[in-house]
Amino acid sequence: MQITIIGAGYVGLVTGACFAEFGYKITCVDKDHQKIDLLNRGISPIYEPGLDSLLSQGSKSGRLCFTTELEESVATADIIFLAVGTPTSEETGEADLSYVFSAAQEVGAALKKYCVIVTKSTVPVGTARQVEAIIKTVNPTAEFEMASNPEFLREGAAINDFMRPDRIVIGTDGANRAQEMLQRLYRPLYLIETPMIFTGIETAELTKYAANAFLATKIAFINEIADICEKTGSDIQDVAKAMGLDHRIGRHFLHAGPGYGGSCFPKDTMALVATSKELGSPTNIVASVVQSNKDRKINMAAKIIDAMDGSVQEKKIAILGLSFKPDTDDMRDSPSLSIIPELLKAGAKIIAYDPIAQGPASRLLPHILYGKSSEEVAVQADALVILTEWNEFRALNLEKMKELMRTPLIIDLRNIYKPHEMAQAGFDYVSVGRPTAKKITSSQKGDK
Ligand SMILES: NC(=O)c1ccc[n+]([C@@H]2O[C@H](COP(=O)([O-])OP(=O)(O)OC[C@H]3O[C@@H](n4cnc5c(N)ncnc54)[C@H](O)[C@@H]3O)[C@@H](O)[C@H]2O)c1
Repeated sequence: MQITIIGAGYVGLVTGACFAEFGYKITCVDKDHQKIDLLNRGISPIYEPGLDSLLSQGSKSGRLCFTTELEESVATADIIFLAVGTPTSEETGEADLSYVFSAAQEVGAALKKYCVIVTKSTVPVGTARQVEAIIKTVNPTAEFEMASNPEFLREGAAINDFMRPDRIVIGTDGANRAQEMLQRLYRPLYLIETPMIFTGIETAELTKYAANAFLATKIAFINEIADICEKTGSDIQDVAKAMGLDHRIGRHFLHAGPGYGGSCFPKDTMALVATSKELGSPTNIVASVVQSNKDRKINMAAKIIDAMDGSVQEKKIAILGLSFKPDTDDMRDSPSLSIIPELLKAGAKIIAYDPIAQGPASRLLPHILYGKSSEEVAVQADALVILTEWNEFRALNLEKMKELMRTPLIIDLRNIYKPHEMAQAGFDYVSVGRPTAKKITSSQKGDK
């Protein structure tokens, strides 16, 4: 089976590399020449654990290739995946489908034989039908069937998520040839008993939004409960654990923090709100989740300022972590992009360190300084703020950090440390949804 993937981003590349690993012949097409050049030189344009080796194995085997030439790879394909971006439209909050529609036009014009066209991009209900209509307009005799196969992978764990997904959703117009071909394509996963959900196209499209909106709701919910914990001296981690042990609730996505970010939840929740309004069935719950999460990020800046006695004017704040989550270089809608500008506005001087995302971050946050390590940014800092829970921040040399900092204050927006341990280590420690811990000095320790 010959497969062509349009869009070699986080989803397209992982999909291509994993299908090549299964033994299929894959062509990844992207109009970004720089990206394709890098890929053809064996360099991944994105950071995703495990992707480099899959890309190089795929290339060496001859099963995976990269090109900017859409026409030829479409003409010979049996299945074509559209995996282009669907960012938020600035004016309306809806999904901007211009990349999907222009890819559809190009694909339509290049079709030469029967193939299945699959929307893998996250697209509002009805989009696959629009893609179908575009292709029929540009190429009235084209032989093809549409399908929707939304992607659920998480950046940072994308390869494992693709290879061992919780489920695969395949939306087609009934039990047709498209369904049979996609079922065959995913057969290697079927063998490890991955549940496959066969639905109509519209159902598949909506499922993706419903899943993401639900997860975003869990995060926004636990963040609001964390605020109540702070007001009442309760501990959000105990609340979340006790809640999560109820099987009806589940323990995942109940980690309080600085608000969700990334390339999916913010844009997908906004798109669902916009679509539902248009359909006359407003999703009030999701609309308030969107607002709650926006407020959350701004409130986190206020929390940092509060912890620094109400003013950050001319104070040096060291930031650990810039990407929206660990193990990715993706900066899209990262909380750091809302929190840091607020701190700058309030007069703070910021120096940040991120193990991987510093390159992309420096283009979006040009007015801050960057360091090469946690210890470098801690020098003479009035506070250290943990924004992303990279593993290397979980075991900081606290003795050394305390020596380097001007003021031993840690604001941990990911709750990766325990308050009493930080107090013992001599830090004032502010976290999320847990009581603030005050440093225990050596004389206090001696008193005991
Ligand atoms: N990133 C994730 O974690 C994730 C997870 C699940 C679903 N999704 C969805 O998958 C889709 C893709 O997301 P992504 O993060 O991979 O996006 P991305 O921005 O990383 O990649 C999209 C790529 O498409 C290319 N492109 C755009 N128009 C093109 C065209 N006409 N021809 C060829 N290439 C074209 C762009 O140059 C870019 O490289 C989105 O709809 C997103 O919501 C993303």
